[in-house]
Amino acid sequence: MNPIKYSFLLLGALSLSACEDNDGQLTIADVDVPAGYALSAGTATEFSRSAFSYDQPASWISGEYNALFNKGDRLYDNVATSNYNHAGGGLGPVYAGYSCGGCHRNAGRTEPSYWTAFKNGSRKATGEYGFTSMLCYVTRRNGKFFQNYGRVIHDNTIYGVTPEGEIHFEIDSAVYRFPDGERYTLCYPRFSITKWYADSIRPEDLFISVRIPLRHVGQGQIMALDRTEIQQLAARSNYPRWGISGRCNVVSERNVSQIGVGGNKAHHGDLTVELGYSSDMGLTNSRYPEEICRGQRQIEEGSMMGLSYEKLDVSTADMEAVDLYLHSLGVPARRDVNDPDVQAGEKLFYKAGCHLCHVTTLHTNKRGSTLLAGLTLPWLGGRQTIHPYSDFLLHDMGSEIMGVGLNDNMVSGLARGNEWRTTPLWGIGLQQLVNGHTYFLHDGRARNFTEAIMWHGGEAEASKQVFAHYSKAQRAQLIRFLWSL
Ligand code: HEC
Ligand code: HEC
Repeated sequence: MNPIKYSFLLLGALSLSACEDNDGQLTIADVDVPAGYALSAGTATEFSRSAFSYDQPASWISGEYNALFNKGDRLYDNVATSNYNHAGGGLGPVYAGYSCGGCHRNAGRTEPSYWTAFKNGSRKATGEYGFTSMLCYVTRRNGKFFQNYGRVIHDNTIYGVTPEGEIHFEIDSAVYRFPDGERYTLCYPRFSITKWYADSIRPEDLFISVRIPLRHVGQGQIMALDRTEIQQLAARSNYPRWGISGRCNVVSERNVSQIGVGGNKAHHGDLTVELGYSSDMGLTNSRYPEEICRGQRQIEEGSMMGLSYEKLDVSTADMEAVDLYLHSLGVPARRDVNDPDVQAGEKLFYKAGCHLCHVTTLHTNKRGSTLLAGLTLPWLGGRQTIHPYSDFLLHDMGSEIMGVGLNDNMVSGLARGNEWRTTPLWGIGLQQLVNGHTYFLHDGRARNFTEAIMWHGGEAEASKQVFAHYSKAQRAQLIRFLWSL
């Protein structure tokens, strides 16, 4: 059925015996799982433990796919320049970041630039070198965008061009106590924008929502999710005892309506490669041929600096390679599964109802997802059993703690301000190794697992309370379990 022959890389402890079943598909029976590890995504599971654990090809990547994967990986990390005449050029004139990998370092989450600035005593959210590792959405209080700005603030520009604004922050914090007396702190970043290039927008007319990048763990499997299963999950996601009921977001793009699974508000139906190039980096392409600052004065400023807007900045073939790269990343295996604390923590995770949203087991569809290039990667399909620790549904996460909760007041499709997509937790225990930090939640406000859990409110309030009422040793075990994901 499948014309491609497989060859397997021997990656450290991982040993795969290259046997194939009848239709040439690698099955999980062919994967030798080293002691202490557990599969996260069937044959796409990879077993390395390093800073590159998110950035490994799945084992079925070989031959021509290997070349495409490597090309996509290189383009993904390539820092774009303003020289539009050269490959890799076309940056700006306005942008948020200069490469995919700059924000999603090693296919993970670059340390939020505002926390880096905070540690350096600065209150300017843009990093020292004019680089923001996050996206800052701005809307009017009525939900509409500002005409002169668009949906994301571009606080970086090529030389000679005026940024759209400058992002600043303050961090409030408050100390709380668990029922057993142990203390914890919650930090709340407040963002503001100065130096608006056009209209000065009054803070009382403005909602700002800051997002830090998501880990790319299991991106291909997420796209290949059986969406009927997600719909059934939404129908079933009703646990009155816990106050939990999730629902789907719906994304309408290019005349197709589908269930959203990507992004912090499940507001994306695909891997957003074209949008990333356009909106985040200012690179025009076949899907978004217009400069992101169309109609703004930065266009003329860019021309004066020698930019030309005649041709598209990034080719469709290059975007297809990046799309293939993201789809084909291996998913880190679970680790230390025989550790007694991990096992005790896993039980406490279920007992606290975390799994009612962070759903442990889902399946991919039959066919696999279709890539930008029109290819279907059959390995992603075949109803693979995967363990994403998410239901990919929206949940009300509360608006009450410190007067704000996780509510960002931003509407994305059906998602309201207080609604967020359950973040998939697979691979989360490697974030520190991959990216050197443990900032969590959509805007990175949580500095560790405890803070991330204690920010849960709304539908997750009851679950959080169970966690809070555990003993100190039990909370540590639950967190030990999260490190094993
Ligand atoms: C300025 C930083 C920045 C740059 C540059 C950037 N991203 Fe992102 N990316 C983000 C943030 C922040 C999010 C989360 C957005 C949200 O949920 O609203 C995100 C989300 C995504 C997602 C969705 C992830 C998921 O789990 O659903 C994908 C895929 C993605 N980016 C790919 C790319 C690609 C490909 C590029 C380069 C073309 C790129 N990004 C460039 C910051 C960035
Ligand atoms: C009602 C659904 C729900 C329940 C119950 C729930 N969560 Fe979550 N969880 C979410 C959502 C939604 C987010 C994303 C919130 C955000 O980014 O603002 C999240 C985020 C997280 C994160 C941060 C992930 C990251 O990478 O930023 C962790 C860790 C986490 N949850 C652990 C837990 C644990 C442990 C429990 C049980 C004590 C739990 N959650 C219960 C819905 C839930």
